[in-house]
Amino acid sequence: MKGLGITGGAGMMYGAMSAIGLAPAATAEPFRAPSLGDLVGRAPGHHSVTVLGAGPAGLCTAYELRKAGYDVTVLEARLRPGGRVWSIRDGTRETDLDGETQRCTFAGGQHLNMGATRIPQGHVTLDYCRELGVEIQAFPNHNANALVNYTSDTPLTKTSITQRAARADTFGYVAELLQKASSSGSLDDVLSADDKVALAEFLKDFGDLGSDGRYVGSSRRGYLSEPGAGTDYGTRLPPPPSLSDVVRSGIGRNFGFDLEHDQAMMMYTAVGGMDRIYYAFGRTLGSRVNFGTVVTAMRNVPDGVTVDYTSGGVARSITSDFVVCTLPPHLVERLRTNLPPAVLAALRAPRPVASGKLGIEYSTRWWEAEQRIYGGISNTDKDIREIMFPYDNFHGARGVVVGYYNTGRRQEIFEPLRHRDRLAKALAEGSEIHGDSYTKNIASSFSGSWRRIQYSESAWASWSSRSPEYKLLLQPVDRIYFAGDHLSNAMSWQHGALTSARAAVSAVHARAAGLH
Ligand code: FAD
Ligand code: ALA
Repeated sequence: MKGLGITGGAGMMYGAMSAIGLAPAATAEPFRAPSLGDLVGRAPGHHSVTVLGAGPAGLCTAYELRKAGYDVTVLEARLRPGGRVWSIRDGTRETDLDGETQRCTFAGGQHLNMGATRIPQGHVTLDYCRELGVEIQAFPNHNANALVNYTSDTPLTKTSITQRAARADTFGYVAELLQKASSSGSLDDVLSADDKVALAEFLKDFGDLGSDGRYVGSSRRGYLSEPGAGTDYGTRLPPPPSLSDVVRSGIGRNFGFDLEHDQAMMMYTAVGGMDRIYYAFGRTLGSRVNFGTVVTAMRNVPDGVTVDYTSGGVARSITSDFVVCTLPPHLVERLRTNLPPAVLAALRAPRPVASGKLGIEYSTRWWEAEQRIYGGISNTDKDIREIMFPYDNFHGARGVVVGYYNTGRRQEIFEPLRHRDRLAKALAEGSEIHGDSYTKNIASSFSGSWRRIQYSESAWASWSSRSPEYKLLLQPVDRIYFAGDHLSNAMSWQHGALTSARAAVSAVHARAAGLH
């Protein structure tokens, strides 16, 4: 590596490091934001853009186009920026599509990210946090002290086990099995003698194996009482369950989660709530963002696009040179448009996904004081699927625990329930994992099911980015461009919305400024 640096310079060294996976991957085509100079003398008058939606894609589109002096107007149905990046706080009021109204009474400083809550290090979301001065903090996807609790036909069924012990036992026994297979010659067709020595070395460390290659448990499992001063050696957890029980219990079924490309630590979040990013975007755009304006129609007309909307109950319309439409696809399809039938069919192709969360505000931080859990996630196969502990305000007076965050079939069980019943079910299941404290000192709560939330009606889109319908929506329809996380390879991530916005910005700008 040193040699590469000396002979090839920093650029060459970086390139070589990237190739072998040591440096972060760069995007294939770096984004160049439009600049004021690009339009001067090139496109007189042809640079008004109406942006539909003030979620991440819409605000990013407007923000980047403004850098080159485009005349942008953002139309947003809701009274707030961020779209599915929605942080619930004291005063948040929402009526869902079933007509139930909830009003949040969390104490000041508490919030629940109903949508986006974590950012991987590779995502451009962090670049916008830097550019806009939005403070970030770590978000723990894993905590050794959080719990797993799964149903099985073993003595471990419905038992709460620390993630720490679950990993120690699973890794320990898997290592023991592999070592046994290697020692007995079962892997001789794929391993040389040298390979076996190296593998044994790795497995010993990975599984904390004894010199005989067996896993018998160790301090990795954790302590009943923490070691302390003098002769206080602490009290270790009892020896591990049997290999068979550990394997059949399935306690390791979620260990791949934080190995995934986009869930691997370190993860980050915006301090005070993820929507802070979009309030920051909004501040740069000022009165160009129009809240409470509901788009009802969009038509290509000669040399422009006309958008109809209602604002304060009054019907209005606006005609501009271009439109960038960032509304969720199944909602665009409902607008009055003159889009071709193939495009309307493509807008119907993405399937809306069910997902939702419930936040429980406690007036004590029992998870820290009693269970020594400082952030992170407990996993279960109960309908709640997971419990997320607060990643901020440590040692404060109160905190908001995410009592469930689930998708698909499990969310569909909560979706039709009224909030009171969602809470009751979440508390019943949560207390089976974390004990009686789970049901005490509850100050307030708030829940949402994204398919039942107006102006979203979906958590995110489920479809293939290789499908012909997807590829069709990447193309403009005359002067209408589409953007949003559904038109990216990071669906269900802000990064997808932001990179899709950048792609639309580049395409509009290239055309308006006559760059090609
Ligand atoms: P949206 O955010 O949906 O914005 C579209 C906008 O259009 C909205 O503001 C909407 O009000 C507006 N609109 C709709 N209809 C109309 C109309 N008729 N007239 C005017 N305006 C209209 N991302 C992450 O990075 N990290 C995470 O941890 C993460 N977790 C998530 C968890 C959940 C449960 C959900 C639901 C999402 C999560 N996401 C996460 C994804 C992230 O929220 C989305 O990728 C992002 O919000 C998509 O932005 P968008 O601009 O494409 O769409
Ligand atoms: N990107 C979403 C999350 O991390 C789905 O929860």
